[in-house]
Amino acid sequence: MRPPPPLPTTFPLLHFAELDSTNEEAKRRAEAGAPEGLVIWADGQTAGRGRQGRVWQSPAGNLYCSILLRPDQAAEMAQLGFAAALAVGEATAPLLPPESAPLYKWPNDVMVRGRKIAGILLESELLITRARLVVGIGVNIASHPDDSDTPATSLAAAGAKDISPQQLLRVLVGRFLAWRQTWLDHGFAPLRTAWLRQAQGLGSEIRVRAADTDTRGRFVDLDRTGALVLETEQGTRLVSAGAVFPAA
Ligand code: BTN
Repeated sequence: MRPPPPLPTTFPLLHFAELDSTNEEAKRRAEAGAPEGLVIWADGQTAGRGRQGRVWQSPAGNLYCSILLRPDQAAEMAQLGFAAALAVGEATAPLLPPESAPLYKWPNDVMVRGRKIAGILLESELLITRARLVVGIGVNIASHPDDSDTPATSLAAAGAKDISPQQLLRVLVGRFLAWRQTWLDHGFAPLRTAWLRQAQGLGSEIRVRAADTDTRGRFVDLDRTGALVLETEQGTRLVSAGAVFPAA
């Protein structure tokens, strides 16, 4: 394992009133040679993107940010999504009443009382000459969409008062960099343990929809790579991509 770099206490931050997408800006900066650790933050986005080609509505008042990394291991690409979810959970938990503690929904969503409060979009490129991972994070602070496929909520709707995007950004990026350091030092195991402690639906029947398959089973674990472990009628199945729904 390579020697871990020192944990940054500061990070280069670029703030914009409006962008198409903070992920796009991070990728443009990466192409131009920007270093690992750059954080892009925008008050609003005109072309915010979610997973699976969905639109991420991005009015002012919420947090939209992207962190640029230069990974040298392919595993880092997927597993840092869990670091981002943990960072959101830890940054938001102290702001919420105890009955609204954030839970993690596989792979990378953060939920409050069964509704999505934050989404994470990882975009990567791993070439010999240039590797980049953009970790895009959107947190509903002041508002949330009413018309999304997954029911959504916001910190304000869940009882958090007077949170500014800037305040949340500072704590969230700090927690993300700390989890990333843990990943570099100890691998995925500590992230897996922390994530499972607050996993939504652990032990219950779920359905995972991937490109052309629907897998049903009891969600019993995460494996050592971050794949979902399901107990199905056909035996134990590992699922490494897809969207999770409650079993109908
Ligand atoms: C999801 O579908 O759950 C992922 C949503 C990710 C949204 C964030 S907002 C900041 C960054 N820029 C984008 O265009 N998307 C991500």
